[in-house]
Amino acid sequence: MPELAKSEFWKDIPAIPNCFKPDAKPEVYISNAPTEDEKLYVPFTETVSSRPLWISPTENRWCDILMAKSAGLVNRHYHPHEVFAYTISGKWGYLEHDWTATAGDFVYETPGEGHTLVAYEHEEPMRAFFIVKGPLIWLDEKGETEGIFDVHDYIAMCREHYEKVGIGAAYVDTLFR
Ligand SMILES: [Fe+2]
Repeated sequence: MPELAKSEFWKDIPAIPNCFKPDAKPEVYISNAPTEDEKLYVPFTETVSSRPLWISPTENRWCDILMAKSAGLVNRHYHPHEVFAYTISGKWGYLEHDWTATAGDFVYETPGEGHTLVAYEHEEPMRAFFIVKGPLIWLDEKGETEGIFDVHDYIAMCREHYEKVGIGAAYVDTLFR
């Protein structure tokens, strides 16, 4: 049960008694998702890191807070599936598009798009909430495939980092749904 209501009009409405179907998995609640605690951000590139919030190995999908403290780069890659993003702070964009995202800006990238993510120098770090369906396919300068990164690589990367910083690799498993 969340915080008790005081005078809210809905204060006498009871909660659903059996809110989960027998095979349903529990929800995920993470307070302060775009935290300033740097341990929680897993280095993804030399300049951009990721705080995992939700991971679906079966759907090859994950949600995260992507963060760059200053100028940042996620080099060119192609997405066979969609990507959603909501900008929390800072300034970022893709070299391939003419918009620049700042706090409050929403982005949807259609399946079949290649792009190069850049974060700008800004008084606040770039923080954006992303929903990504893998894989990312790394491209060389000619646009040819030179590697892939999917949810399994993401999980391995997160486990290694969390083990190293003392949070423990098992934390990552608590985000699986
Ligand atoms: Fe991307």
